[in-house]
Amino acid sequence: MVSAAALTRSLRPTKHYDLIAAVYDSQRFGCRCGSILNDVEQAIARRLVARHGKVLDVGTGTGRFAATLAGGSSSIVALDSSSRMISISAAKREQSEPAKRISYVIGDGASLPFSSGSFDAVISVKLLSHVSDIDPFVSEMARVLRRGGQIIIDTSNPLARAYGHSSRRPAIQSYEDHFHTLPEVGRVFQKHSVEVSRRVTYSALPISLVHLALCPHPKVIPSSLLKLVIGAKRGLLAFVEGIKLK
Ligand SMILES: C[S@@+](CC[C@H](N)C(=O)[O-])C[C@H]1O[C@@H](n2cnc3c(N)ncnc32)[C@H](O)[C@@H]1O
Ligand SMILES: [Zn+2]
Repeated sequence: MVSAAALTRSLRPTKHYDLIAAVYDSQRFGCRCGSILNDVEQAIARRLVARHGKVLDVGTGTGRFAATLAGGSSSIVALDSSSRMISISAAKREQSEPAKRISYVIGDGASLPFSSGSFDAVISVKLLSHVSDIDPFVSEMARVLRRGGQIIIDTSNPLARAYGHSSRRPAIQSYEDHFHTLPEVGRVFQKHSVEVSRRVTYSALPISLVHLALCPHPKVIPSSLLKLVIGAKRGLLAFVEGIKLK
């Protein structure tokens, strides 16, 4: 049972995302490194999420993961607490045939409006970094997942955490960031009978450093080099897969 205070806390970032919804995509993915980062992250998600399942994207934002996974899934539900972010995501529905299979829900990731065991996979990227306590979110993701289903979330290396405290990527208006490492995620997963099964890392350098120092200089740093740095197999950022055991 989630308390009223916990629910209020979990919905705080919503206002922020309502305000910046219209510029979210251009701020994050409009520059060279942002666009490459988006491609790398979408490719990892497509690789990790098993095909033909029923997928839930929690904190879908403007829908980049729902959109890229739509082609390989039997259905996708895209949930976000910000009605503005959901509107932007839904406006992209006509852009591709698979995207027409996405359903949009305004809701709270800490109190999901779905029955237990109703999804084959749950993905949630760059949402848990907005909350200090990930437990209510992981608990809900695990509840709505069938046995043997996958949870896919993102984590960051302690080095990225140290860098993040000293420098934020200036163009991005992000809600406050909390860095959750793999051991912390592993502990919370375990509490909810989810076992870490795979981890895919990327981005050899902190992305804010790439954006500041490399991205603005296409003549010296070609996009092919940016792709090597951001797509590096050993990196500071990671997608983690957990499997629900029972
Ligand atoms: C940084 S964006 C990430 C969006 C998308 N997953 C991506 O990677 O581009 C964080 C999103 O989480 C949503 N969010 C924040 N708190 C939430 C909550 N308690 N329940 C559901 N969504 C939430 C925000 O509205 C925002 O759209
Ligand atoms: Zn950039």
